[in-house]
Parts: sequence; structure tokens; C-alpha cells
Amino acid sequence: MKIQEIFDLAIKMGVDSDFRGREGVQKVLDRKRKKYEEMSEKDKAEFDIEKLENPYLDTRIYNISEDKEIKKVLVGIDIDTSELLLSKQIPDIDLVIAHHPVGKGLANLADDVELQADIYNYYGVPINIAEALTHVRMSEVARSVSVSNHQKTVDAARILGINFMNVHGPADNLAAKFLKDLIESHDLERVGDLLDLLKVIPEYREGISIGAGPRAVTGKAGNRCGKIAVTEVAGGTGTSPKLMAEISRAGIGTIVGMHVSEDHRKEAEAAHLNIVIAGHISSDSLGMNLFLDELEKAGIEVICSSGLNRVKRN
Ligand SMILES: [Fe+2]
Repeated sequence: MKIQEIFDLAIKMGVDSDFRGREGVQKVLDRKRKKYEEMSEKDKAEFDIEKLENPYLDTRIYNISEDKEIKKVLVGIDIDTSELLLSKQIPDIDLVIAHHPVGKGLANLADDVELQADIYNYYGVPINIAEALTHVRMSEVARSVSVSNHQKTVDAARILGINFMNVHGPADNLAAKFLKDLIESHDLERVGDLLDLLKVIPEYREGISIGAGPRAVTGKAGNRCGKIAVTEVAGGTGTSPKLMAEISRAGIGTIVGMHVSEDHRKEAEAAHLNIVIAGHISSDSLGMNLFLDELEKAGIEVICSSGLNRVKRN
């Protein structure tokens, strides 16, 4: 596979596991295209044309130094100059793949946050409420990533002549769908039953061994779950804490996430909502592993770094 084919596979897998469904994703792209066509020439010149084709702007190809057949990749959760230099120490690495975005992918992280409105709506929060709170969150995320030195690692890849891309939104979608399907195929009564189910997943077992395993941040193991929603895995980054009260009102008893903030914990506690966090890097690993299984099936050798705990399935 060439780099573009690997990227296209990631996008396809992301769409296939998206809460919005393929049709919902296409609607978002169509809307962006319509807006683009109505823009002035001046605005068009500044518009990032990839927005018309790529529904996950936090997933990008950052550098192609040599567009060759990819046989061996170095993959990591966070890639910076140190991992790029590490890749030079390993023979025959053709491409480095990060999970977390850098460069343009990081600058556009807020775009992926829009999905959160659809996730909360899927679980019963009225779309006007989910959308209003998500739009506030999108502008917060856009401002928070604007402090970063976005191009630092991209520049290093270019100088070192290393092919470099990342897969963020699609991998998080894969992890969310995996967890949603698993949870929905079990009759879970108590929060402790949910935790036990998560602890069977190898990535989370590894999380336990390093002190970052699944746990309840609000509610106790003995609490009844009620309806369970996987709300805090896909969607770029943390949601609006105000959604905790809204999802509780919508009839959800327990939410599952990778990680949540202290503000989420306080809001959830006030709303009598149980929050189970599965673990951040272990959830990132789960999503990346589901993608990497397909790369390995295509004959690509995968070397792991930067917190990625490789678990192969089928
Ligand atoms: Fe992450």
C-alpha cells in the first residue's frame, strides 16, 4: 500500500464506525461543499480544500518525502521529534503513524468535536441542546489548541526525510463502536459488572498493570448502571461538562469515557450519573489496534512506540 491508500483506509474505517452513519457523514461533507461554493474568491483562497473530502480533519498526511510502497511502519500514540529520530534507528521504517494530531490536524481538532452533538443526540439529548453546548466546546477547543507550536514535529519529519501521518478521529470511532457493541451485547446490571467487562479487554488489562485501568469516577461499583452510553470516546476530545446533566435528564444512568475532567465529575455527581473511565492511552491503543489489524492483513509490518500497546484481533 502507498501512503494515500493507508490514509484512505483509515478514513473509510472511521466512516464505517461513525455514530452518524455513512449517510450522516456525507451530509456534513455536502454542507461544507455548499458553503464553499457560496464563498467569495477571497474566502475560497483561504479555505482548506481537504475539508470537502476528509470528514476527520484531525487525521492528516503531514509529510511525504518518498512516495513508495509501505512495508514497515513505526506507530505511536504521540509522535514528536524524539520518535522520528527513534524511527531512524530502526531499519527500513517507511512511514511513521501517530495517533494524536500535530500540525494542521491539531489546528483543526475542533472540527472533530462537532461529532459530539450527534453522539449525545443519539443517546437522547435534544439536538438543539447538544448542538448549542457542542458549539461552545468547539470554540474552546479551537482556542486551546491555538497556543501550540503546530508545525514543530512536521518540520522535523520534513528535515529528516520521514514519511509522516496520523490517525485520530477514525481510531477513536473504532474504539467507541467496539465498546458500544460489546456493552450492548451484555446484560449489565451494576457498575461493577461494566468494569469487569472492560477489564477483560487486553488493552485495559495492560492499563491495570501500569496503574491506569478502568474505574468509576462517579458512582460506586454497587450502583445500578441504568442505560449505558459510550459518549466520551469518539469526538476529538472532552465534551462540555454541562452535557452531564442533559444526558442524565435524557434517561442515561452511566456514561463510558476514555477520560473526563474534574468539571465533568462534579456535574455528573450532581446529576446522579455514573461515569466509568476506561483509560486514555489504553482506549487510544484499542482504536489504533483495530486499524493496525487491517494494515497487517495487507502485509505491513507494525512496530509500536509511545504508549501504543499492540493487541492483534483475528
Ligand atoms: Fe487520545
